[in-house]
Amino acid sequence: MSDQQRPGDRADAFVFTPRKNGQSQSVSDELAAWMSTGWADTELRDLDPIEQAPHTARRRAALGAAFPGERLVVPAGQLVTRSNDTEYPFRAATDYAYLTGDTADGGCLVLTPNADGGHDAVLYLKPRSDRENGEFWLGQYGELWTGRRNSLQEASALFAVATADVRTLPEALRSGTTALRVVRGHDADVDALVDEVRGDTDSEAKAKSARLDTELGVALADHRLVKDEWEVAQLQRAVDATVRGFGDVAAALPQARDTSERFVEGTFFLRARVEGNDVGYGTIAASGANATTLHWTRNDGSVREGDLLLLDAGVETTTLYTADVTRTMPVSGTFTDLQRKVYDLVYAAQEAGIAAVAPGRPFGDFHKAAQRVLAEGLVEWGLLEGPVERILELGLQRRYTLHGTGHMLGLDVHDCAVARQEAHLYGELEPGMVLTVEPGLYFQPDDLTVPEELRGIGVRIEDDVLVTEEGRTVMSAGLPRSSAEVEAWLAERLPRA
Ligand code: GLY
Ligand code: MN
Ligand code: MN
Repeated sequence: MSDQQRPGDRADAFVFTPRKNGQSQSVSDELAAWMSTGWADTELRDLDPIEQAPHTARRRAALGAAFPGERLVVPAGQLVTRSNDTEYPFRAATDYAYLTGDTADGGCLVLTPNADGGHDAVLYLKPRSDRENGEFWLGQYGELWTGRRNSLQEASALFAVATADVRTLPEALRSGTTALRVVRGHDADVDALVDEVRGDTDSEAKAKSARLDTELGVALADHRLVKDEWEVAQLQRAVDATVRGFGDVAAALPQARDTSERFVEGTFFLRARVEGNDVGYGTIAASGANATTLHWTRNDGSVREGDLLLLDAGVETTTLYTADVTRTMPVSGTFTDLQRKVYDLVYAAQEAGIAAVAPGRPFGDFHKAAQRVLAEGLVEWGLLEGPVERILELGLQRRYTLHGTGHMLGLDVHDCAVARQEAHLYGELEPGMVLTVEPGLYFQPDDLTVPEELRGIGVRIEDDVLVTEEGRTVMSAGLPRSSAEVEAWLAERLPRA
């Protein structure tokens, strides 16, 4: 057993990757033998499938039906090094989580065509450490270092799908059909394996294969456009936790004033880690003029009494569904007249946008409705010269609105981005779709076209909206939206002086 730290071949790599900072380089035969014995049987038997299992089975069947006779390969992804021997927190690839419900690293789902015209699903996973080879306590990812994994039998019971040791994936892919597609870009080893199986030699064949893989990703994004009931419930959980996180931030504003935007970020993060998996994207905690930077995630600015704080944040559930909510709040608890004027225009635009969310409406309608209100307001204020139709045609309001009014929401914060345009951007809203409505106005501190008093003001209001049979439900209605509601909400939460 003294050679247990030898480098394995690629398939064995996860088992034999030794820790990089080991002080004890060798293991005596006596110690190795002792460590391999004396362990109780901890196999978990009679596990019930996860709640999501009927849904993941249906999603796999739908995907298989779209690609008859082809093998489909959907990897979870691998840990990514942050520095030396530490890794970024792992987040499973969206399509893998959607089709399996598993959120661990290193797995790979394979759908193989069967004789009945359907597909057989096998989930290839890292098995448990078997206590024989020393990996469990010597390996970089051994169970005594990073925690217990599911056994293959446990995973099969939980995810209601056949499982196999991921070390057998190469031989499985090399056998049988060669018509295969992979969700590329998540696991370099799996991508290389698929390339090897295909054996493309010329650039034309490689380009064709790339197209096949892209089509698989597009199909999955299409399938994810309409959420099933279980997904909607997960998104509501994410939103509800996010609402509580915003309340935490309101109560912590005095401490943020004494420190920085990082206090806001950290306060929200605590809620995200306790109630969910993580934040679904980098929290934007932007005070004062930082709010005019759309994705301000440095969060190293000061939070000042007279400023607005723009908080754009979302809790991601342990099942990896995320909220995406923005509120812009006066740090003092009360908007100045000027801040209120800007806020109220954005609010009016958001009202118009939300009202345009309904089944059968073109996806682009809510954007157009909100942009029209903003353009009208900017003309009224003298920042833009009418007519409004010309402004909208030329997009001139975008100098101050910058971004689109919303996007699909789900497992990814900008969900289904690669879906077919005719199903998404140029498609119609359907019940079960979830999207954000998030107009904003951003007056850059150095924008000479803007009256001086407006410079450095940024406001965005963002809510998560479910399309229903009847119209819509604002999932984030637990937070205040109008300026008066925001002030009342802050008054309840800000500690009294
Ligand atoms: N949080 C990024 C966005 O609102 O799209
Ligand atoms: Mn958004
Ligand atoms: Mn957002």
